[in-house]
Amino acid sequence: MSRVEKFNPLKASTLSRKRDHERAGRRAEAVPISEITFEEVKRDAVRFGLATEVSSQMNAGKEASIFLAHWKGHPIILKAYRLWQTSQAERRKGFYALEKMESVAAKEYDVLSACFKATVHVPTPIGRVGNYLTMRFLGDSSDPAHQLKDVRLEDPEQAMEQVFDEYLIMYRDAKYVHGDLSAYNILWWRNHPWIIDVPQAYLVGPWADMKVVVHLLKRDILNVLSYFKRYGVQGDPDHILKGFLSEYVPNNLRNSRELLGVWTNE
Ligand SMILES: Nc1ncnc2c1ncn2[C@@H]1O[C@H](COP(=O)(O)OP(=O)(O)O)[C@@H](O)[C@H]1O
Ligand SMILES: [Mg+2]
Repeated sequence: MSRVEKFNPLKASTLSRKRDHERAGRRAEAVPISEITFEEVKRDAVRFGLATEVSSQMNAGKEASIFLAHWKGHPIILKAYRLWQTSQAERRKGFYALEKMESVAAKEYDVLSACFKATVHVPTPIGRVGNYLTMRFLGDSSDPAHQLKDVRLEDPEQAMEQVFDEYLIMYRDAKYVHGDLSAYNILWWRNHPWIIDVPQAYLVGPWADMKVVVHLLKRDILNVLSYFKRYGVQGDPDHILKGFLSEYVPNNLRNSRELLGVWTNE
C-alpha cells in the first residue's frame, strides 16, 4: 500500500470502492443517484471531518446534491458531487467519472476561494475532501436564502446594479467568468446578491481564450438582464460587456482579434 493510499480518507468509502473497481481495469459505469444514500453522505462527511452532523438534503441538481449540515451546532452547506455517466468520448480520452467529480469539487473550492479573497459576496469556502465541499450557509437559523428568481425585489434597479457590481469584482479582481450566472445561481440575502455555483467558471488569465471569455460573459449578462425584464428594468448588454472588458483584459490579450470585434461591434 502506498503512503498516499494509506492516508487517503476516501479509502473504503463508496468513492474508493468505485475507484478500486476502476483500477481493476473496468470502466466506471453510470451510477444511479440513489446509489449514494443520505446515510453514506453523512458518514463520509463526518469521517472526513467536514461536518459534525448532516441534517437534511436541500437540493438535488444534475451533478451535485446540497445538504444542510452542521459544524458543532453551526449550520453549514455540504455540496456533494455525484458520479455521473462518462461519455464515450471522455472514456476514449481516458478521463473517468471519479477523477472528474473530484476535480470539479476542487475547482469549485478554488474559485470560491479566489472570489472570497477578492471580496466578492460568495459563500465562504470551508473545506474540501474528495467529491465533497463545505461552505458558509447563507440564511438565517435554518431558513436558507432564496434564489433571486424567487424573491420580490423592492428596488430592482438597484438590485441589478448590485448584481453587475458583484460580477465585475469577480471578473476584474478574481479574474473569473462565471459561465452559469442566472437568477438560479444568485441568492438574495440581507439585501444583497450572493453569487453561488461556480465550478464551471473560466479563468481570465494570460492563457485565456478571449473568444470563450466574451461568449460566456455575454451569455451571463443576458441571463441576468432577462430576469430583470419582469420588473421592466432594462440594460444594454453590449454596453455592460464593454464596461467589463474596459475594466480588465489580460495585458497580452489586449489586441486579440475577438476583442477588436467586440469593440467595433462586429
Ligand atoms: N451556501 C449556500 N447557502 C444557502 N443555500 C445554498 C447555498 N449553496 C447552495 N444553496 C441552495 O442550493 C441550491 C443549489 O445549489 P448550487 O450550488 O446552485 O448547485 P447545483 O449545481 O445543483 O445548481 C441553490 O440554488 C440554493 O438554493
Ligand atoms: Mg445552481
